[in-house]
Parts: sequence; C-alpha cells; structure tokens
Amino acid sequence: MAEAQNPFADPLRFERRVPECAIVIFGASGDLTKRKLIPALYQLALDRKLPASFAIIGNSRTPLTDEAFRDKMAGEVKEFLESGDFNPEQWKNFAANLHYIAGDMNDPALYKTIAEKLATVGQRNILYYLSTQPSYYSTVAAGLGAAGLGALPPGQTSSGGWRRIVVEKPFGHDLKSARELNGQLQAVFPEQEIYRIDHYLGKETVQNILAFRFGNGIFEPLWNRRYVNHVQITAAEAIGVEGRGAYYQEAGALRDMVQNHLLQVLATVAMEPAAVFEPNAVRDERAKLLRSIKIMPPEEVPQFAVAGQYNGFRSEPGVNPASPTETFAAINFYVDNWRWAGVPFFVRTGKKMPKRYTDIAIQFNSAPLTLFASGDGDLSTRPNLLILKIQPEEGISLRFFSKQPGSGMHLRPVSMDFKYGSSFGGRSPSAYETLLVDAMIGDATLYTRQDMVEASWKVVEPIMEDWKSRNPKFPNYEPGSWGPAEADAMLARTGHHWRNA
Ligand code: BG6
Repeated sequence: MAEAQNPFADPLRFERRVPECAIVIFGASGDLTKRKLIPALYQLALDRKLPASFAIIGNSRTPLTDEAFRDKMAGEVKEFLESGDFNPEQWKNFAANLHYIAGDMNDPALYKTIAEKLATVGQRNILYYLSTQPSYYSTVAAGLGAAGLGALPPGQTSSGGWRRIVVEKPFGHDLKSARELNGQLQAVFPEQEIYRIDHYLGKETVQNILAFRFGNGIFEPLWNRRYVNHVQITAAEAIGVEGRGAYYQEAGALRDMVQNHLLQVLATVAMEPAAVFEPNAVRDERAKLLRSIKIMPPEEVPQFAVAGQYNGFRSEPGVNPASPTETFAAINFYVDNWRWAGVPFFVRTGKKMPKRYTDIAIQFNSAPLTLFASGDGDLSTRPNLLILKIQPEEGISLRFFSKQPGSGMHLRPVSMDFKYGSSFGGRSPSAYETLLVDAMIGDATLYTRQDMVEASWKVVEPIMEDWKSRNPKFPNYEPGSWGPAEADAMLARTGHHWRNA
C-alpha cells in the first residue's frame, strides 16, 4: 500500500491543527489586546501553530491605518511577549496578516465594513473576540446578527465554515444580568459556538490538576473527606489595581477573581472524573461540582466570608474616596456531596499582598497516633500536605515526615518536589495561546458554559448581598500584609491557619 494512503503514516494525524480562519478583535486598542492577545497570536505564529493563511482584524474607535496598527502592535509585542523572542523578520510576515477597522460598535455601518473586509481576506471560518467593555457585548452580538455575520444555520456550517464568539469575563455582574447577557448572545450564536474564556483554566498548571488526579492511580483513593482535612486555595497578588481603578471598584475581589477563576480552580480540584476526556463530559463534571457548593444562608455569611480593602485603594485613580469595594476576599466554602461533605475549602485572594503566588494546598488528616517526637514541634500540627503550585513557581510538592539522622526517633518535615522547569525544560504556552488554539480548533473543554457561570453566581450572590448591605470598616489591611486579621480569625475558629508560601 502506498504510504500516502496509510493514515497512520501521517505524522500530523495526531496533532491538533488550527484551521484557516479570521479573528476579529473588538476592543483592539485595549489592554488585553496588547498585553495578551496579539503577543499570544504572534507566539503561535512563531511556533508554527497558526495555519499558513489567517487574518486578524482589529477594531476600535481610534482612527488608524493598517500600517499604524501594525507598528503599534509591534511595540506592544516587544514589551509584552513572554518568551522575549521578538524577531523583526518574522514579525513582518505575521504583521502582513494584521488589519484594522476604525468604527463605533453602536454603528451598523461598522459591521458592513467588517463583512467587506472578511470577504477581501477570503476566510470562511471566523472567530470573534469580545475584548471590549462588557456593556458592549450585547451590542456587538446584535450588530453581527443584524449584518448576517452571526452563526450559520446548522445546514450551512460544513460548506460555509464556522463562526464562533469568545467572550471575556465578566459574564454579567450577578445572576440576573448573566442570564440576560446569555439570552442576547444566544440570539445570535448557539451555546456551542459561545466560548466564555476563563484564563485560569488555560494555565498549564491548572490543566495538570486533571492529569495529576486522573492520570495516576495513587492519589484519587485519598481524594475525599476520609483523608483530606481541608483545602486552601490562595491567589495572592503583589500588585494593586494598576490603573484599572474604575473597573475594579465596580467589580471587587469577589467578582474579579472568586466568581470565575477561583471557583473554576476549586471545581477542577474537587470534581469527579469525567467518563471520557471530551469537552462536554469534562464540563458536565465541573458544572456538577459547582452546583454542589453550599449556598450560604445570609445569616452565615459573616461567619464564613471576610472582605478586606488595602490602605490606599481609596486614593487610586478612578476610585471613589469612600469606596466600599473589597480588594481581598477570604471564604470558607463547603461542597455538599458524598466525596466532600464536611471538608472546608478555604479560598482567598487579594491585591497588595506580600508576594504573587497561586497555589492549592491539600492538607491530609494527621496520623491517628503520634508515636514519635518531632524535632520540630508537635507532629499533629504539621500534617501531610500536597501543594499544587500554579504560579509563579510551577510544580507539585508533597510534605511528609522523615527520621532525622542520628540516635533517637526524631522526625522532621521534608518534601518531594516536582518542578515543571526541571522536568520538562522549555517554556509552557501562555494561557491565551492555549485557549486561542482551542477556540480555533473548536475544543471547548477549557471554556466555561452558561450553567457553570450561573452556578458560580448563585454561590457568590449571598456574599455579595451581605457585603453590599454593610458599611465596612475599610481599609482594614496594610499593603504588603496577608490581609485583614478577620481572615485569620475565620480559620482559627475552625482550628486551622493560613499557609503562607
Ligand atoms: C484577571 C483579573 O482576570 O486576573 C485581574 O481581572 C487579576 O484583576 C488577573 O490581576 C490575575 O491573573 P494572573 O494570570 O496574573 O494570575
């Protein structure tokens, strides 16, 4: 048999190939476009992960020629490319595919111009990317729909290509607005063509939680209420609001980080294995877990959730000098299912913390009897700990006890460490590289679904409501500290303390 006829002889058969397509970015003069989207697309081109033929069309109101847009993006990519591999020659090749259309998203003429441009670049597969202010999401969807640029009817998709829309967070500011937004998007794109991005799910280390849990036989039997004492998820940031004061004071830590990123991480840590590794099978399990998180009755919120605001937030540009917005949130969640009943999940995030790190610490129950003295205090206060390090260090470490050399049985904690860098070398793709490829391929595994978004809003809404109804005594923590003392007190009430990396 000729080799060409043997499908297994094709080395690319098992590769995920990105089809030819056009990406239309709304909000092309914004922060996300310059910091994340264009650098990620350029990196993909450098790594030969984009198809030979593609087009990127940026839109915003600022009048710019294609040339001026390309020059502007070259400057941004030089500054924000994570690998630092800027190559002027390769940039020229990449930039030839960059186009720009100035226009107001409220103006129907814009969508006509986009349609003409799409016809000129000759792409049938189109990925729209909403990187605008959230108040424009529905306007753009409606504009695309009215111009005939929305999803194609099912019968036409094979010949006519596909049309998908990627939506950045926030998906609404509460359950009601999330449902409204969903209705507006679904009027133009069916659910399977709506890609709600949560960049935490694209991080290699978050994806690795699934590999660690379900690709190994030894951890899963311990992964339940019988052996796990509690779980701590921390996303600490050293930065403040960095010029995003106006957005942030409307959002706050709960909406900005907990409702989306941290609940998705929690769901990944706690979900059941999927029957198959397929987008909807994995997402079904995540969604099921999110639905199992206990919704706090209003009277319990003060006991299980703590808000903080750093000293100085109220004088950030764009922030109201009396702003009641939280820049820190610590919450004790419970997952009401058979696997996790009674196990506390402590989640915390904050701006202006002592350092940037995100990790998940699974603390196991202590040995039932302490036979040995510890060189380092009481063993029962230093239980086994498994730490899944998301960033900036990327790895997994397991703490256990070992005999200290010498006479007598004195034990000390030691750790077994896996580090991505030393095991795999090289650079991991950024979350945006991963997620953009997935959207172009049509793999929604790492994207959130409307039912997950709604379940997450249901979980945070009682907390939002309670915090809104109070007049908090802010500021209540100093920049460079681990947040308000109440967050420590919340854990102390359950006999625990925060682990600070
Ligand atoms: C964004 C939030 O979604 O995530 C920011 O809006 C936050 O406030 C950022 O700083 C954190 O992302 P990362 O990848 O730096 O941890």
